[in-house]
Amino acid sequence: MRYSDYIMSEKYYVTTPIYYINDKPHIGSTYTTVAADILARSHRLRGEKTFFLTGTDENSQKSVEAAAKADKELNVYLDEMAVIWENTWKKLGISFDDFIRTSQERHHKAVARFWQAVEKSGDIYKDTYERHYCVGCEDFKTDSELNEDDRCPLHPNKDLELVQEENWFFKASNYKDDILQLFHNSQNFVQPPKRLNEIRSYVKDGFADFSISREAKKVSCGIPVPGDDTQRIYVWFDALINYLSAIGYGTDDELFKKWWPADLHLVGKDIIKFHCALWPAMLMSAAKNDPLLQNEDGSPKLPKQIFAHGFFTIEGQKMSKSIGNVIDPLELAVEYPFDVIRYFFFREIGFGNDGDFNRLRIAERYQSDLANTLGNLLNRAINMSRKYFDGKIPTCDTSVKTWDVGRATWDVEMVETLWQQVDEYYSSARIDLALEAIWNGENASLTLANRLVEETKPFKLIKEEPEKTALVLYTLLEFLRNVAWMIEPVMPEIAKQIIISLGQDPKSELSQHNFTQLKTWGGLKPGSDLPEPKILFPRLGE
Ligand code: MSP
Repeated sequence: MRYSDYIMSEKYYVTTPIYYINDKPHIGSTYTTVAADILARSHRLRGEKTFFLTGTDENSQKSVEAAAKADKELNVYLDEMAVIWENTWKKLGISFDDFIRTSQERHHKAVARFWQAVEKSGDIYKDTYERHYCVGCEDFKTDSELNEDDRCPLHPNKDLELVQEENWFFKASNYKDDILQLFHNSQNFVQPPKRLNEIRSYVKDGFADFSISREAKKVSCGIPVPGDDTQRIYVWFDALINYLSAIGYGTDDELFKKWWPADLHLVGKDIIKFHCALWPAMLMSAAKNDPLLQNEDGSPKLPKQIFAHGFFTIEGQKMSKSIGNVIDPLELAVEYPFDVIRYFFFREIGFGNDGDFNRLRIAERYQSDLANTLGNLLNRAINMSRKYFDGKIPTCDTSVKTWDVGRATWDVEMVETLWQQVDEYYSSARIDLALEAIWNGENASLTLANRLVEETKPFKLIKEEPEKTALVLYTLLEFLRNVAWMIEPVMPEIAKQIIISLGQDPKSELSQHNFTQLKTWGGLKPGSDLPEPKILFPRLGE
């Protein structure tokens, strides 16, 4: 799919993984959730009907262990933790449209319908096996996946369980070729490309049938297998179905048709095996016997894209409870305005790569990118306009598209090109590249706008050429208005403040104009009042 296809699509359905709730949210889950929030906001701003889903994965052994440790009934524990998760996102201003809990009845209904469709396709059979299970991963481990001490490399402190059971199995192997074909036909299905390569090797070498249930007497959680009360559905098999149950699968066909397929599943690199291989295989199987999951030609309706981002370390170290460096996002939001953290996440780290959460780097970026490059520019442009043009947006001919003052030149087309890039980057989930283009790009950018002030020297120019000065200052203010809308998905609060600083009301701007109008040059009305500027980025700690 080309970027432009995304831009033109009419609806946008984006998901985060549903998180285990054996603990509070941390900066890792916050990173994924903020990414989904940014993409949802960017699509909403562009006028697309958007559905942003997050939630909690509750039918897990981890929940059972955590409830026991907290000395609480499982249901009580789950209810308390789900509220903590949902409220954390609300407090951080995350704009999710629904919050799915896999303990909810709507989810159980969807899982039952899905299981039956897969069963009807002949892809479920009983088998006996003996394997190691890691509760940390909620996954079986082959010998080659264990480290030298025969422990899970991701959870070396957890003892592996030796599971010897008769369970229901899913014939994943039936779909191996179709999945490889899918990867071949749709190069964008898994992003970034390095993850596609990784998952392709996994499917080629390791994608075999696997157990999708556990004996009920051995696990104290899980959704019962339809028609077999002695077995509970494997947590990953149930969890993936959340992407369907939240939009009405099994409860509201019309709603489901409106939103499925998902446009984007955002996940961390740790769970691509489940999302890029198991999930499409499950859907391919269920689709054979469920028209809701079929395209018009009868082919399975699969998610359009899975984007896997990298992992965070904290000041160079792996984030872990035992090191004691796990960061609570709500505490972080007291330390810094949350928009600053959102900016840092996507400016510092290429989206898709691993990165480090480093306070020194936050302080540096705050001072240079935000306070100096953006905040000072806005202040200078407003102060000079107020001083030389009677507290107003300078009066000039806004239809002038190009101008030059000495060596400095301007062409409105550069802003249009920047918009095109920004739109494409948001559509392809490259939030980092959108920010890079806005701050440093070769076209119009904040760096270039700062250079314009140095080169045109409005404080001198005003004495010789007041008309040109009006044009220069109007250009700066109008460019900043455009920048505010460009960064709105990433920094919604800061964007609002910029729009207000320019004398406009963000709410009425949004209600009176569509996206094309918002990004059309000339939105600021010459001669309208410019309020006294407020400092956007005060010194940290003040
Ligand atoms: N419950 C499953 C997902 C089921 S989706 C159908 C699960 N939950 S989890 O709570 O372990 O969340 C994993 C996700 O949290 C990762 O995929 C990633 O999105 C995020 N992160 C957890 N730790 C992280 C970092 N250190 N860095 C970045 N993201 C991290 O897996």
